[in-house]
Amino acid sequence: MATVKRIKLGSQGLEVSAQGLGCMGMSAFYGPPKPDQDMIALIYHAVNAGVTFLDTSDVYGPHTNEILLGKALKGGMREKVELATKFGISLVDGKREIKGDPAYVRAACEASLKRLDIDCIDLYYQHRIDTRLPIEVTMGELKKLVEEGKIKYIGLSEASASTIRRAHAVHPVTAVQLEWSLWSRDVEKEIIPTCRELGIGIVAYSPLGRGFFSSGPKLAENLSNEDFRKYLPRFQAENLVQNKNIFERVCEMAARKQCTTSQLALAWVHHQGNDVCPIPGTTKIENLKQNIGALSVKLTPEEMAELEAVASADAVKGDRYASMVGTWENSDTPPLSSWNA
Ligand code: ATR
Repeated sequence: MATVKRIKLGSQGLEVSAQGLGCMGMSAFYGPPKPDQDMIALIYHAVNAGVTFLDTSDVYGPHTNEILLGKALKGGMREKVELATKFGISLVDGKREIKGDPAYVRAACEASLKRLDIDCIDLYYQHRIDTRLPIEVTMGELKKLVEEGKIKYIGLSEASASTIRRAHAVHPVTAVQLEWSLWSRDVEKEIIPTCRELGIGIVAYSPLGRGFFSSGPKLAENLSNEDFRKYLPRFQAENLVQNKNIFERVCEMAARKQCTTSQLALAWVHHQGNDVCPIPGTTKIENLKQNIGALSVKLTPEEMAELEAVASADAVKGDRYASMVGTWENSDTPPLSSWNA
């Protein structure tokens, strides 16, 4: 199997595998939870193959994905991985609330440490930005958690350029996590340049378009009611009529390159630079192996341009989410001067 190179994320010393493993689908959002034993075997396989950067969140389950990782990290595994988790989406009895106040941040961190059964989280992201309070207030508490040794590095997920800049002024941000793939490229306008200017690493989630670049439109035919992709605009029949053309063109290119469509889509993300780490999600060892193989797919500038033309913004039909509340497009927070809590 190909070796997985290591890259630096951000400017504070974090080093991770150049491809990570998104663990969400093991426990939530993509259909029923998968058996613990199988997922632990998959995580072992990933780590032994060099995919050591594991991504979870307290909201996946909620909580069950962190508990699963806690089990997987037993027996000397903890030292072999870079563990990223997230706080900020509270899901109680199905009611979703974005929370970033200091008391919540601290309680969330302590609860994650307990579930993961570890002393320190390597990378702790704010999963969604609480726009009711200045980002500086949330960052102030995260800074304290770093000082206390409960977390090593700070990350932000789905944050706008201005939120990233303001947060970074309070304490260096090590990584920003965003949806970035062939069919989600808006982040390239402002957010990616801001991260690069500030020396912040970029973590690309859903790099396979939530499986669209692996299975194409047929993915939408068999989704269970528990699979949230069933409700995403891009997977609706009226949009798939157009989106399927993108997949077909990617298939043609993959055949020419003698790789799979998943590998081509992932290779496109890998070619964005050594400061970018895609974290494809999978629940299958075979797919994990294939995704690692994407690191060996080389693309010329002409091939990159061809792929980008195939999946241009005009070609993609449908928003990323059914509701854009909480996404980076809506993540600016009030000025610190307005805060008197
Ligand atoms: P996310 O980050 O939200 O998990 P993603 O990485 O873009 O999204 O895509 C994840 C989806 O792609 C999953 O449904 C996964 O299915 P499996 O759990 O069955 O693997 C699918 N997927 C990932 N790698 C794949 C591969 N190499 N071939 C086919 N499907 C793959």
